[in-house]
Amino acid sequence: MKGLTQFLSLALVTGVLTMNSCTSKKETTEQKSGIEKASYGQLADGQTADLYTLRNASGMTAKITNYGGILVGLTAPDKDGKFEDVTLGQDSLSAYVKNNPYFGALIGRYGNRIAKGKFTLDGKTYSLVTNNMGNHLHGGTVGFDKVLWTATPIEGDEPALKLTYTAKDGEEGYPGNLSVTVTYTLQKDNALKIDYQATTDKPTVVNLTNHTYFNLTGGAKRDILDHVLTLNADRFIPVDKTLIPTGKLQPVANTPFDFTKPTVIGARINDSTDTQIKYGGGYDHGWVLNGSGDSLKLAATVYEPTSGRVMEVRTTEPAIQFYTGNFLDGSVMGREGFAYKKRYALCLETEHYPDSPNQPSFPTTVLRPGQTYKTTTVYQFSTRKE
Ligand code: GLA
Repeated sequence: MKGLTQFLSLALVTGVLTMNSCTSKKETTEQKSGIEKASYGQLADGQTADLYTLRNASGMTAKITNYGGILVGLTAPDKDGKFEDVTLGQDSLSAYVKNNPYFGALIGRYGNRIAKGKFTLDGKTYSLVTNNMGNHLHGGTVGFDKVLWTATPIEGDEPALKLTYTAKDGEEGYPGNLSVTVTYTLQKDNALKIDYQATTDKPTVVNLTNHTYFNLTGGAKRDILDHVLTLNADRFIPVDKTLIPTGKLQPVANTPFDFTKPTVIGARINDSTDTQIKYGGGYDHGWVLNGSGDSLKLAATVYEPTSGRVMEVRTTEPAIQFYTGNFLDGSVMGREGFAYKKRYALCLETEHYPDSPNQPSFPTTVLRPGQTYKTTTVYQFSTRKE
């Protein structure tokens, strides 16, 4: 009976796998694209969250919950065709609620830091929640990573999940009711595309991103120091001790921040002679992407030699935060009771520059009524045999 109930709780919303036509578990193991919905648990306020599994025809899956819009898992094939999870994640909704260092989460209203949680817009100063060394980080204590989004599955051979959330005027200190739509699409070509859109009823600031931690070994077998990274960026954004930008941009040439050519991440990560490496405890900085305009451009390529997996990141955003899991210390339990240690993952958060609301020389993050905020980021997976 329990099995039957569980089965009935799955709503298969694809044209191929509809709830009516689904007669056996076998169908889900076939390489059919679609979306499966299952209950993910209850939150303290009684609301329930769901877990959606998007699958494409080649067998790649993306698991997403509408709690925090969290990407709970993402599989990709290695050079022998073996699918494994390439992200860090936790085992249950309650684990994510209890303590999530932003694994897989959607971040907003402002991804990254705002100095002292203050900014002035149109002559009015706003005070935001401060939650990180006196600064505002990732939208505050209840950012978009901790709210329940409304989910709409979209059928097709490129299954998608549309998430919507309206942040209230004054939420975490920000002005304006902000209506946000984020759509995850699992493409046929083994890419996960994330489209972000937002509108406001008062002038505000917006900087949305996703905070997935990647480890391309599959199943976080070891740290990411042997991953090879290329960043399409000639400049990076130096910070102070509290990781707030100094306001100047620095050429990467002749620094440990030069990833213009494929470079092993671990090669210079402990260069204690470099003040910026010291401040970040490794890499925890924004890089200014080369090229301008709103078109999708290649921002980063990551290659993991043992699995042969390659991830390419394309974005319309002007910058990318490269973070090497410096704050992971084994205290957060990951999947199957596995404790993720320092540098067991890397994040490539596509976004605007940190603290832009206080830096007139940085590209603006102001959104006004009548305007539409629109950005896209694509994480594409392939393999290379060497
Ligand atoms: C971002 C920040 C880091 C850290 C992580 C979460 O990447 O830049 O400093 O806060 O999020 O731990």
